[in-house]
Order: sequence, then C-alpha cells, then structure tokens
Amino acid sequence: MPPDIGALESWSDSTVLQLKRQPMHVPLSGFVRRPLDGRWRLELFDHPDEVSTSAITGRRRKGFEVDVPGNWPVQLPDLDPPHYTNIQMPFPGPPPRLPDRNPTGVYRRSFEVPASWLKGGKRVVLHLGGAESVHLVCLNGTFAGYGTDSRLPSEYDITDLVIAGDNDLAVVVLRYSANSYIEDQDQWWMAGLHRSVWIESRPRVHLADVPIDLDYEPKSGQGTIVASARVDFGALPQAGWTVRTTVHQPSGRPVRGRAGTDTQVVPDEDAHPYEFTGFVTESRFEIDRAKPWSAEEPNRYRVLTELISPTGRVVQSESQLIGLRRVEVRNGQLRVNGRTIRIHGVNRHDHHPDRGKAVTVDDMRDDLIAMRAHNINAVRTSHYPNSHEFYDLCDELGFYVVDEANVESHGYNWSLCDDDRYRAAWLERGARMVKRDRNHPCIIAWSLGNESGYGANHDALAGWIRRADPSRPLHYEDAIRIKGWADGGREATDIVCPMYPEIADLEAYGQAFDRGEVDRPLIMCEYSHAMGNSNGSLADYWDVIDANPGLQGGFLWEWKDQGIRQAIPGGPAGATRLAYGGQFGDEPNDGNFVADGLMSADLEPHPAMREVAWVHRPVVVTKARGGLKVENRRSFVDLGDLEARWELLDDTGSLAEGRLRVPRLGPGQSVVVPWPGAVGRSLGRSQRGRGRWLTVRWMTKADTWFAPAGHLVAWDQVVVPKSATGKRAAVKTLPSSSSQSTARALEHLVAPELALWRAAVDNDGFKLMPELSKRIGVGGQALRRWQELGIDTRPAEELVEHQFDVSNDDRGSLFRHRVTVIEDDLPRIGVSFTLPPRFRRTRWFGRGPHENYPDRNRSAMLGTWEGELDLPPYLVPQEFGLRTDCRWLELIDPDDGEMIRIEAVEPEVFHYSAVGYSADELFAATTETDLAPSRQTVVHLDLAHRGLGTASCGPDVLPRYRLAAGTYEFSYRAVGLADDHSH
Ligand code: GAL
Ligand code: MG
Repeated sequence: MPPDIGALESWSDSTVLQLKRQPMHVPLSGFVRRPLDGRWRLELFDHPDEVSTSAITGRRRKGFEVDVPGNWPVQLPDLDPPHYTNIQMPFPGPPPRLPDRNPTGVYRRSFEVPASWLKGGKRVVLHLGGAESVHLVCLNGTFAGYGTDSRLPSEYDITDLVIAGDNDLAVVVLRYSANSYIEDQDQWWMAGLHRSVWIESRPRVHLADVPIDLDYEPKSGQGTIVASARVDFGALPQAGWTVRTTVHQPSGRPVRGRAGTDTQVVPDEDAHPYEFTGFVTESRFEIDRAKPWSAEEPNRYRVLTELISPTGRVVQSESQLIGLRRVEVRNGQLRVNGRTIRIHGVNRHDHHPDRGKAVTVDDMRDDLIAMRAHNINAVRTSHYPNSHEFYDLCDELGFYVVDEANVESHGYNWSLCDDDRYRAAWLERGARMVKRDRNHPCIIAWSLGNESGYGANHDALAGWIRRADPSRPLHYEDAIRIKGWADGGREATDIVCPMYPEIADLEAYGQAFDRGEVDRPLIMCEYSHAMGNSNGSLADYWDVIDANPGLQGGFLWEWKDQGIRQAIPGGPAGATRLAYGGQFGDEPNDGNFVADGLMSADLEPHPAMREVAWVHRPVVVTKARGGLKVENRRSFVDLGDLEARWELLDDTGSLAEGRLRVPRLGPGQSVVVPWPGAVGRSLGRSQRGRGRWLTVRWMTKADTWFAPAGHLVAWDQVVVPKSATGKRAAVKTLPSSSSQSTARALEHLVAPELALWRAAVDNDGFKLMPELSKRIGVGGQALRRWQELGIDTRPAEELVEHQFDVSNDDRGSLFRHRVTVIEDDLPRIGVSFTLPPRFRRTRWFGRGPHENYPDRNRSAMLGTWEGELDLPPYLVPQEFGLRTDCRWLELIDPDDGEMIRIEAVEPEVFHYSAVGYSADELFAATTETDLAPSRQTVVHLDLAHRGLGTASCGPDVLPRYRLAAGTYEFSYRAVGLADDHSH
C-alpha cells in the first residue's frame, strides 16, 4: 500500500468514511466525459498488507485482464469465489474486526488526458460508480482519495495529479472492511468495481449540483418547480455569473413566457460575515394545468439549467427530466397526487447470473419489462441504492420506488444502530443517497436501510432526511417491528412496513384503521417469500388488502433467484449450473436461501408469476346482480388501452366467445354490464358438459414498451349461474372404447399406488440445511415431522389404512379408494403410477394452463388445456407441476396417438401432476443438474394436496389448505384409447 494510507488503515476504522471525496450531487451530464469501462488489469492479494507499492505504481501491470464494471468473484471464481451468507457475517467479529484473509484487488489501467483539459483552471474528476467493499485511488503513484459505501458513486478531483497524455490509474479494492458490518445484506458477498468508471473535465466555474423540489396540487392542477443550482467557483468567487433555467413540457416544447424561464445572478460575495447563503441560485416556476407524473402516466418535464459566464457564454448546461407530483401520507393513506395508490411491488437486488452486481442498463430494462408484463408497478431497491440509470428508467416507464440506504447490520442487529463508531456511516449513507436521487419523481419514500435494529443512528438519519427533503415519507421496517405497528417508531417511519406478516395481523390492522385507531398506511416491505415452489395464499393476502383501505399492498420477496452460473465442479467441459451458497466452497453459508426469486436468475418466470400478475390485475370482473361487475382498479387512468373478450365454456371445451362491451370506466369506477347474449342464447340448447363458466380476458390493444399488442393483462372467471344456464346439464359419458379398447394394456399402465409423500418444497423445510431453521429462526417444520413419521421412506400402505378396488367394464376401469388417515397435515392423499416417457403430453379440464396448488390457483382458470410435461422450474429440485380441480385428464403419446383418459367420478375433481421424475428422485436431488434426463412419466392423482404457504420465511400453510385426519374416499375411471379422440 502507499505508505501514507497504508499506515492509516482507513478500512479498519468505521469512522473514516472518505478522504478527499467530492460532495454528492444529482447525476450531471453536462461535462465532457471519457468512459474508463472496459478491460483493466487486476492483481489479487490475500491481504491489504501484501499489496506492494510496485503493484500500484510498477511499470509492468500484473494480474488478469478483467472487465470493469465487474465483480472479480464471478470473473475469477477459482482465485476468490463468491460467498453467500444471510444474517451471519462471512468472518468472525466482533465489529470492526476483519478477517485474516481479506482479498484485495489492485485494478490498473492507463488513460489519456488531452492537454486542453488542463488549461484555464479546469478540473479533472474521476468517477467510480461503485466498489465493494471500500476503495482507494492512486494516480500516477500518488494517493488521490478513499471512499466507502459500495452502492453509491465516489468522485475525486484528480486535477493536480494528472498530466497531459498518458496517466496511470490504480484503484485498490478491499473485499472486506469495518463497513462490511453495515453491508450485511442477505446476498452474495462479491467484490470489485461493479459500476461504471469515467473521468470528466469540468470548467473552472461549474454547476456542481442542481437539486429540484417538485410539487403538484391536485385540486388546482398547478405544478411547482423549485430549481436550485449550486455553483463551484473553484478558487475565488467572481461577479457576473448567472444561471438561466428553462422548463420544457412533456411534449418537448418550452413552457412559454416568464412562466417557463428565469435567470438568477449567482451570489459572489462570501466575505460578509453571517450574511452569506452559499453560491446558490433558486428559480421557482408555477405551471398551470400541469401534466402530473404517476406510475400510470409518467409525464416528464425537462428542466434545463444553464450556467452563463459574465461575457454571456453558456459554459455548462444540465438537463434534468423531472415529474410533477405530490406524495404524502394523508388520512392514513399513502397518496400520489391526492389519490390512493396500490403498491404492486417487488424487492429487487442488482443481480445477473454472469455479471453479478454489474448489471447493465439493458438488464435493468429487461427486469422492468418483465415486471410490467406481470402488472408490477413498484420496486423497493432492496437493500441499497441502485445505479442512477435504474431510477431514470423507473421515471420514464412508470414505477414507484422505495429507495433504500445501504445500511444493514443484521448480524449485529441490536448493537451497531447505537454504536458511536457507526453513527457517521449511517448518516452519510442515507444523506448521500438523498443527495444523489432526490430529483427522481419515481421515488415515493426513502428507506433508512434494512434489518439493523432500531437505534439512535436511525433517528439521526431520519432527522436529517426530514429536513433535507420534507417532500417524501420515510420507511423503516425495524422501527415498527420493535416499537409496534400501532404507534411505534414514528421518528423513523411514516409507513407501517412489516415483513412477512400473518394475514390475520393485516386484517386486524385494517380493522384498527377503520376504527380510527391507527393513522399510518400499511405497506408490507417484504412478503410472500418466493423460495422454490412458493407464494401460497398470495390471493388470500390480496383479499384482505382489497377489502381494507388501511392496507395498500406490498413488495414481494424477491424478484430474482440469485443463482450464479458456475462450471460444474468435475463436470464435462462447458457444463454449467446456477449455483447457490456453499457450491463455491464458501463457508459458512446459508445454502439455497439465496434462491428465492419469482424469476429464475436467467429471468424465466416461475409459475407463481401468473398468480402475481393476477392479484395485481388492473381490472376485475365479478358476478353481480344482473350481469358482470367490471371494476377499474387503476388510480389515474381509464381502461381505454385494453379490450375485453369473453369465452363461455363447459368441461368439454369452449362454447362461444366474443367481445365484451364495457362503457368507458374512469379510475376507481365500476359498472355492471349484462351477460353476453350468447350466455342466454345457449340456455335451451342441449348441453354436452357439466357446468358453465365465463372467462373474461383483457388484452392490450396496441404494442407497448413491455409487450406486443394482445398481451393478456387481466383475467377472471365466473360460474354462470344456474338461472342463466337453464336446465341441469347431463353428465357426460366417456367415449366408448369398445372398438379400440386396450383395457389390458391399461391395467398394466395404470397401476395406481397410494401416495402420501411429495418432494418437499422449500416451504416444508430446508432439506439441504436442516439446521438453518434453528440458526435463523425461519423455515417450515412440516418436513421434519414427515421424516419422523417416515412418510418419505416407509410404504404409504403402512402409514394409513387403505381400501382399494378396481372393476372393469366396457367404459374402462373404475378405481375406488378409501383412505383413513390418523395424522393431521400430510403432504398429499392420492395415487401415482408411472408411464413410459412416450406419454409426454397432457390434456385436461381443470385449472391451468400453468402449475397451480390449492393455495395458489386463483390465477388458474378452469378450462380445457393441453401441453407437454413441465420441466422442473426450481433451482433446487422439489415438488412441481400440479394442476388442481381437474375433471378429467388425458395422457397422450403424441407419436402414435395412444392415450389414457382418466375421469374423476367421486368427488367430481382431482388434482393431477405428470412430470418426468418421481417424488423420491426430486427429493434426493440437491441441485438442478443432479436430475438426469427423464425416462418416465410419473403421474399423480391427488384427492387432497397440502398448500404451499410461505414458511421458508413467513407464515405456513393456512389451516384450510392442510389435510386433516379422517377418511378420504375417491374414485375415478380410466380408459385406454388407441386413437386420438377429439372431444
Ligand atoms: C428478510 C430480509 C431479506 C431476505 C429475506 C429472506 O428478512 O430483509 O434481505 O433475507 O428476509 O429471503
Ligand atoms: Mg438480512
């Protein structure tokens, strides 16, 4: 290390936050900039003490070529792999103690500085977008600065160190520091320069910051812009400088006249004791009939700020895209522009399976496209500020953002929040976030961080933010967890933002709200933990949210699995898998708790995303007196962008379809429209099937940024009432199989065995980490109980009483089961059988088309669906592929048309799954690549199947989705058909 900083060891002192770092400002674009992204040299050392001076200044740059932005643990995993821990630190404490091995990377590259950059008092500034954990900068062998907080940029004025021509830049990045204790988020520990690096040339006198305050008065429709400019004079202030500010409408045209332009003189006198207020100008604009910003209508105005020299030359112009909006907590509700909003949110980490934290703007856009395609309108930047481009995209595309400070001291939850040694870091992290991000209309609340207990350091930060930006509410979960939902933690949070609450507790809060006993909106900061096959009861949450004005939604945990692509150790060349904690040899670790996304790490939606889209649908159709009630759940816009189609069906297929005519419906409005004529017209006709349903689907009319025209936005299904369908439908008889019957083959094919076991889902218990629930106090207990009972190993027949008979006639085989269960809460009660893999298609009438479970099937409409067998969707193999409420199922060999048809007899529905693996195979597999290509089709028919719940982190399966002890009787008929019969 360079001797000066080497002796200081700033990284081991949590109070040293920065040396020579420039103050934070909103992102500026008016300077001449040279990107330094690209190939850098990286030399790795085991400890900062081992970093030699020559590594920083030597003529020969050693080490590997790596990309910046990037994280070296994903780039060089063999040298220093990623490490995953949740609460525990990856090394022993107590704070601020550092590990004996603390990998330290020296990044080096050269860059050219044109001679013109060094003339006329201009400044040269180095910008580092983000470095984990802490970094120090040396230029041409001389120390240039030191910075902490891995998720916000650091800037250094390097004017006095650069030379015209070739310069030698070294950035030393330490993997761990005293600050790691407040970056203890549940994610991979990575390291490196994971955001963009550039240098820029700033004029001697320049705009150093252009913070803008914004408001919109919903009653009058007036927008207010208060645009400030902070001028940096370099050495001495000078008279005659002005700042001209111009406002442009969303259309791009300037706001005409004095309402849209203003020029202010920059104060140049700081010599008057007491009087001086800073080299700051302020211009105020009132915009009549303003077009406000909301996530539904993200109208943006442009504020152009020009710095003009005494000779009238524009030396710098800064353009900020802003939105006129008001966010407030009023009458206990979080409101935007006076209207209550619904938070259809997700928690998003910066994550890419190959790039780690170094996500590109395209990666961010891809995330947002997939979010909006699933009706998500809000993001919590769990648990740190993102790159500034992310907020630009959210402003532009329309997302509400809770911007979270990079503070999490989870491993030392109860101490660091009151620790003097970390007080300054708390304050600086939150304040710098606000200073950078304040111009973004998308940000509707500031979060003080995550899981850090609640202490004086929080209140200090809260106090600062309240003063610096009174325009946004504060958000901090531990304040209400520790001090109570009703009235606790008011200093630190304006929102009651619990994580993983029980539905009953939400309901109780909603009732207290109705009674006027509480006065803060409840928005869950995390809920419905999406680990593996999960998100049970998501719709039950929304039933309660929709029914209670005090509840405004929440942020699902979490957007993406944080799997990292890894060459399979000892595997064939080129074979990779998505790895979770421990698979890099990282110890200690929290295993696959890092794989808890609604999307795979590769951005493939998990099946629960259909349920997510459905609970968040902007328009809802229900049955009402005299027809269908259509309700627009948006807060600001009508449904003019959508068209509705209805489909009438029974259990044999579609009967009729058409367009649903709905009058124009403003935000929050509803209307009752008559049943489509065809429903009535079909009344008298003879009916083939049992039951009648009407499905209504809403599609986009035009191409949008997130989907081509015709994208399915909302859907609902109602049972057509008996009165509307007329006489009772005749029970459908099975197709006669006398000619082609393969009854004998069928007997051989369908030999059902009693099945009680399912390959435990992550919510049943952590199969890979049985001790984890003890360590972090979360996790389901069902698996442990099942294993104690031997449900996973003993023959099902030994565990319950089972009576079974089968009779054959020309309509196939009738199977009848009677199961007496004395244990509560088994995984399933049903049968299974195995078919050759040529049976690889299914067709069924039941809930679909996507995978669904008893507590996650409200998005799955009844219908006749058909498809190939599902592939395992989850990173750690587990139960998957169920379809609930099926009346019949056909297992099809598409090549020769052979088919087995199974029909529920009593009760009239069963659940089924048909997948390539048995429950035992799935349960034995620890990682997706453990599963060999399937050589069978394993079919389950379940009379009952336990719900999924969210017990991996949150409430377990609700009692009504559990299997009570008792007697279960069910029967079904199966027939084999050699030809493909159409129905
Ligand atoms: C929360 C935490 C998240 C994550 C989640 C579980 O407690 O805020 O960071 O750990 O639980 O996946
Ligand atoms: Mg945590």
